[in-house]
Amino acid sequence: MKSGISSISIYIPPLYLSHDDLADARGIPKDKFRIGLGNINMAIVPPWDDTVTMAANAAEMAIEAAGIDKDEIGLLIVSTETGVDQSKPVASFVHGLLGIGHRTRVYEIKHACYGGTVAIMNAINWVKSQHHKGKKALVITSDVAKYGINSLGEPTQGAGAVAFIISDETEFVHFLPGSNAFYSKDVHDFWRPNGSLTPMVDGKYSIDCYLEALEFCTKDLQENLTGEIGKKLLDFVDYFIYHLPFTRMAYKAHCKMLATLNPSLSEEQIKEIYNDSYKEKIKPALKGSEQVGNIYTGSVYMCLMSLIDEVGENLINKNIGIFSYGSGCGAEFLIAHIGRGIKQQAKQHNFKNQLMRRKKITIEQYTELYGEPVTSKTMMNSQAITIDDEFSRYIFTGIKDHKRQYAKK
Ligand code: COA
Repeated sequence: MKSGISSISIYIPPLYLSHDDLADARGIPKDKFRIGLGNINMAIVPPWDDTVTMAANAAEMAIEAAGIDKDEIGLLIVSTETGVDQSKPVASFVHGLLGIGHRTRVYEIKHACYGGTVAIMNAINWVKSQHHKGKKALVITSDVAKYGINSLGEPTQGAGAVAFIISDETEFVHFLPGSNAFYSKDVHDFWRPNGSLTPMVDGKYSIDCYLEALEFCTKDLQENLTGEIGKKLLDFVDYFIYHLPFTRMAYKAHCKMLATLNPSLSEEQIKEIYNDSYKEKIKPALKGSEQVGNIYTGSVYMCLMSLIDEVGENLINKNIGIFSYGSGCGAEFLIAHIGRGIKQQAKQHNFKNQLMRRKKITIEQYTELYGEPVTSKTMMNSQAITIDDEFSRYIFTGIKDHKRQYAKK
C-alpha cells in the first residue's frame, strides 16, 4: 500500500439561491448564468455557518468515513482564503471544536484556491516522513465565496468545505509519483485587501491567467510523465477535473489543454475532440459546481466528490487529472490513481443527500443575509429560515469580547 488520501467528505451549507431568481432580480437573461456560466444554484451560508463550522462539519464526516479515532491524527491543516481572523488560524478553532489531542501540529495555509492542493501535498510529505510516528493527517479546505450584492462575481458565489484524511498506507487515492507540474506568477487577478470583506477581481484577466498556467503545466506534465504515457496523456487520463470558479470554466480549460497537446489542430478540430471527450471525461464531475458554485480551495475536490457520486466503484484503477489553480497565482497539474478503497468510500458518501436536504431561499432572504456583515440582527432574523439539519453539527453562535464563539449542536 502507498501513501495518499484514505477518506474524503464534503459539507455544503443548508441554503441555496437559484440562479434563475438571481437573473430575474438583476434583469439578466437566465441563459447567461445557466449556459454562459453553467451554474444552476448557489450555496448560501446561514448566519450560524462560517469557514470554521463548515470545516469542522466536513472534518468530522471524513474522520468517520476513515473509521479512525481522533487521537490518531497528528497533523491538522486548514486551507482557506476566507479566514475569520488575521492571526488565529481556522485550524485552531477546528482543533478545539473537534477535540483533537494536543500532540498535534496545527496550522493554516493560504494560497487562494490553490491552497488545498498545497495542504494535501504537505500532508503527504509529512506521512512519508519520520515525524508522523504512525499518525494520520487531517486536511480541510473551507471557504465562503462572496463577491457582494450586484457585483460582477455575484453569480459565481458559493460555499463549502472538503476534508481529507491522509495516511501513509491507503488503497483509496494515490498521486502518481513525480508527475506534478507547478506554475507560479505574481499577478493581480483576484485579491482581498486587509479590511475588505469581499475580494477585488479582474474576472476576465483571471481567466487568462488560469489558462496561461494550465498551458504551462500541461507541457510540463507531459514531460514529467515518462515515455508513452506523456505522449498519450488523453488516453492515460480517464477523467479530468479542473478548478471551477464557474462550471463553464471546465469547457475553457479542457479546450486549452487539448490545444496544448495538439498544437497543429484548428479551433474547430479541438472543439470536435472536446465534444467527443466531454461526456465521458468531464461531465461526470460537474454536478457540485452546477449546484453549489465556487467553494474556492475545495472547488477542484468537490469535482472529485461529484465524480465519486456519479461513477462510484467503477472508478477503481482509473486515473484522474487534477488541475488546481489559485489566483495570485499558483497552479499544479497532477494525476491521482483510484484504488480498491473506493468501494468502502463510495458507500459513505452523502453529497447527494446534502444537496437534496437544502432549503431554497428567496432573493429577499438572500439580500438580507448577504447585504451586510453578520450581526445580531441577521442572527435573529435568520431564525425564520432555520432548518433542522443533520449535517450541521457545529454552529457559530456570535462574538463575545471580540472572540468568535462556537458550539456543538
Ligand atoms: N445566453 C448564453 N450565454 C450568454 C448569454 C446569454 N444570454 N449572455 C452572455 N453569455 C455568455 C458569454 O458569451 C460568456 O461566455 P464565454 O466566456 O464563453 O464567451 C459568459 O456568458 C459570461 O458572460 P460575460 O459577459 O463574458 O462575462 P461577465 O462580464 O458577466 O463576467 C466572470 C463573468 C466569470 C468573469 C465574472 O462572473 C467574474 O469576475 N467572476 C469571478 C471571478 C472568476 O470567476 N474568475 C475566474 C478564474 S479563477
